[in-house]
Amino acid sequence: MHFETIAQWQTELTTAIGAADSGAELEALRIRALGRNGLIHDIMGAIKTAPPGDRRAWGQAANAWKQAVQTALDARQADLARPRAAPADFDVTLPGYWRGLGSRHPVSQLIERAVGIFRRLGFTVAEGPEIETVHNNFDALNTPESHPSRDQQDTFYLADGQLLRCHTSPVQVRHMQAHQPPVRIVAPGRCYRRDTADATHSANFHQIEGLYVAERVSLADLKGDLAFFARALLGPDVKTRLRPHFFPFTEPSVEVDFSCHVCGGQGCRVCKQSGWIEIAGAGMVDPNVFRAVGYDPEAVTGYAFGLGIERMAMILYGIPDIRLLYDNDVRFLSQFGV
Ligand code: DAH
Repeated sequence: MHFETIAQWQTELTTAIGAADSGAELEALRIRALGRNGLIHDIMGAIKTAPPGDRRAWGQAANAWKQAVQTALDARQADLARPRAAPADFDVTLPGYWRGLGSRHPVSQLIERAVGIFRRLGFTVAEGPEIETVHNNFDALNTPESHPSRDQQDTFYLADGQLLRCHTSPVQVRHMQAHQPPVRIVAPGRCYRRDTADATHSANFHQIEGLYVAERVSLADLKGDLAFFARALLGPDVKTRLRPHFFPFTEPSVEVDFSCHVCGGQGCRVCKQSGWIEIAGAGMVDPNVFRAVGYDPEAVTGYAFGLGIERMAMILYGIPDIRLLYDNDVRFLSQFGV
């Protein structure tokens, strides 16, 4: 027998021991190595047959071998005795960890709800970009050069001569340019104005634009559709009224009020004692707008409206300050969790 042989046995054994998966497997290895007829027996035999001068060295080698194998066995034994990780440890009766679920932002929720109501009235959804041309945002909407909303103070102009749309009305222009009448669309989206933020103003906010163009559309259609919307959103008793107003892109123009859903029109804090809440600008599409998009104002008429989403959210949920909608305070937002 050579020293190399016992060295090789040692390597093989310690590898096998390290990989042993059970006490029984380990015991079998122990017997093979250190048992009465185990490898150690052969090694001891080799000592006896070695030349007397080598016996001392063999004795030491045999002891070292025995010890190395025993150490490996003990280590593996301890390993196997240690409680196993995850599965054996997993208590299925423990309650789970609570993970805060996100929720849709109230503005998104309201847009979804409003659009859902208009869909029931046969509207489809159109969209336009937030970066617009001066033409779509103002010129095609019959807004004169001198109109105050064109002012640098009120509208964000970009270096390339475009602007951040200050209302969703340019989507009307885009849609009519691309489609022939009849059209019946709502266009929800974000708008920008150079307003200093306070309780009721924000430099960006959302509107839902509405546009219905066909033969013989009238102001009665506008009132009927918005009254339907009001009842679906706020309840069956909510009334709708139109007040004369002015917008460059509509003639006649109106402001739309819904009766206060909180006090039922009696007057309260929400409606500032008036019994009514202003909810939209609207009117009959100005013939000049039709001309700008290539429609024949003699052939079709149409109504349009623009609803302020944040305003609607504030009224509906009793939110006293528009900035709450944009502070991203989870304590506020989580109240709207669905
Ligand atoms: N664009 C108007 C605004 O931002 C709202 C508006 C008024 C939209 C009348 C319309 C409309 O479509 O007909 O204040």
